[in-house]
Amino acid sequence: MHPTLVCFAALLAAASSGVHAQTLVNGQVFTNGLAIVDAPAPGSPMHAGSVTQVAIDISGDGHLDQSASIPGSGKSTRFDSLEIYLVSYQTKQNITVSNGTELLTQEQGSTVKHWNFNVSTCIPAGNYNLTFYEASHIDNQPYFAITAYPVTVQNDNPSGACTNGTNALQDFPQASSPPPQSPWLIGTTIATQPLPTATGNAASSQSIVTSSAMSVIALGALLVLLC
Ligand SMILES: *[C@@H]1O[C@H](CO)[C@@H](O)[C@H](O)[C@H]1NC(C)=O
Ligand SMILES: *[C@@H]1O[C@H](CO)[C@@H](O)[C@H](O)[C@H]1NC(C)=O
Ligand SMILES: *[C@@H]1O[C@H](CO)[C@@H](O)[C@H](O)[C@H]1NC(C)=O
Ligand SMILES: *[C@@H]1O[C@H](CO)[C@@H](O)[C@H](O)[C@H]1NC(C)=O
Ligand SMILES: *[C@@H]1O[C@H](CO)[C@@H](O)[C@H](O)[C@H]1NC(C)=O
Repeated sequence: MHPTLVCFAALLAAASSGVHAQTLVNGQVFTNGLAIVDAPAPGSPMHAGSVTQVAIDISGDGHLDQSASIPGSGKSTRFDSLEIYLVSYQTKQNITVSNGTELLTQEQGSTVKHWNFNVSTCIPAGNYNLTFYEASHIDNQPYFAITAYPVTVQNDNPSGACTNGTNALQDFPQASSPPPQSPWLIGTTIATQPLPTATGNAASSQSIVTSSAMSVIALGALLVLLC
């Protein structure tokens, strides 16, 4: 690929990710933390009155021992907490999808945690971000990673404002201290795709980027200078 094209594709990927870097590889969303989200896919519609299942690989695709996903494990690389919110600056909502420790402590023995989220009819239709807040340690270094990707809520019969599961909507961007990239992508040759927008229009270019210890996303700022 021509260097200018690589530059452009990488910029697109960086731009579409905003400050909450995440990388789509083979249909999995690699957060900048330890979690890898299998479902829902970015851009997915969520239907009010139905259940959306969130599936999260907590094993780093097989690299991390089960016990490291249980808060308090004391492992050098471990999850401390993982919470999920459905957030929209458009509809001004911050809805709890999963809080507390239940998500990580359930389904022991399974490398993938499944969470059934009742998309209540009180949730207004619109564009949202499915937002993951992960506190973790990687090689004993503490990190706090926020990963947001777009989904939509479709709601033909809104039932009025939600009375439970609602939280204050905090200003954007929120403070975080993530590692520079997913530890599971370090040293790999990754095929990255810009994430689709909330309307499901994936940017047309797909880039194959060879990166040794470099994250395409983290390179965004550098690329802006170089391109
Ligand atoms: C989703 O998050 C991005 C940043 O990652 C932000 O720019 C956008 O406004 C958010 N979308 C909504 C609907 O809140
Ligand atoms: C989701 O809704 C179904 C019925 O629509 C109910 O049986 C189930 O308990 C609800 N789950 C949660 C977590 O609220
Ligand atoms: C989880 O969220 C619900 C609703 O927003 C709230 O009432 C509850 O206190 C929260 N629990 C924890 C452990 O944060
Ligand atoms: C509020 O609680 C009810 C009953 O548990 C549940 O069905 C509904 O989904 C909750 N609303 C939100 C926005 O989580
Ligand atoms: C949503 O609410 C949760 C619980 O209060 C909070 O931790 C999170 O930072 C909030 N996110 C936004 C974008 O307001």
